[in-house]
Amino acid sequence: MQILIAEVKSWMYEAAKYIKVALADNNLVVCTKSDRTDLVTNIDKETQNLLIEKIKNFDPTAKVLGEENDQNHLTDLTGRVFIIDPIDGTMNFVLEQENFCIMIAVYENGQPSLGFVYDVMRDMFLWGGPSVGVYNNDCRVNPPLNKAVEEGLLGVNAGMYGTNYVHAREIGNLAMGVRMTGCAGVELIALILGKRIGYLSHLAPWDYAAGGVLLETLGLKMSNVRGEKLNLRDREFFVAGTPKAYDEILEMLRKD
Ligand code: IPD
Ligand code: CA
Ligand code: CA
Repeated sequence: MQILIAEVKSWMYEAAKYIKVALADNNLVVCTKSDRTDLVTNIDKETQNLLIEKIKNFDPTAKVLGEENDQNHLTDLTGRVFIIDPIDGTMNFVLEQENFCIMIAVYENGQPSLGFVYDVMRDMFLWGGPSVGVYNNDCRVNPPLNKAVEEGLLGVNAGMYGTNYVHAREIGNLAMGVRMTGCAGVELIALILGKRIGYLSHLAPWDYAAGGVLLETLGLKMSNVRGEKLNLRDREFFVAGTPKAYDEILEMLRKD
């Protein structure tokens, strides 16, 4: 386990260096995917290739689920599976040059084992899992206070807030305020560190897998908005929070 942790961290630090050099050299080729706001760059694809090459060298039998390069479907979760988002928050990467993360989760036979979320420009690396605990760089992270919705900030997807989808605006109004960073990794780090009471969004497996391992290790909760276990297959409407806030949010959603 310690060897695997050290390996994954070293790959992600190398990937971060690669990304920073590309930013400094202004070496981005930006393309759109499903619509004009769904961006991908050459660096997203190259970073994923770099990470997959490391994985294959380390463990040739491992499977990979990754956002880019046609690696985004995996029906068989037996054995060791790496779930990769090479750059989470590509829009921020292109337009802000900050507020983006590299994320890797490791699953063993369908069970969450390790999560790694690296906020590259803040050099904030959250990592760990059920058997080792959670760390922020080298500091152990304790479970955050179990705050209710009205006691803290809600991270929320801008589109869902704008349309009040699944009561997102009403839930935000109950909270102390809302935050929309445009990066699932940044939001999940904030939740893990007790800076949010919850997060509502529409996420794919690579958006929540790594952060999900960490937050569940700390006793925080996540599911789809019907309260069902996330399926690691489709994009789903996602809710996570402190146990208190999560229960309150699901209670509101069940009234429909
Ligand atoms: C996106 C970000 C964003 C979330 C989207 C994701 P990407 O990831 O995490 O915050 O609202 O649903 O797709 O595409 O930049 O890796
Ligand atoms: Ca993502
Ligand atoms: Ca991505």
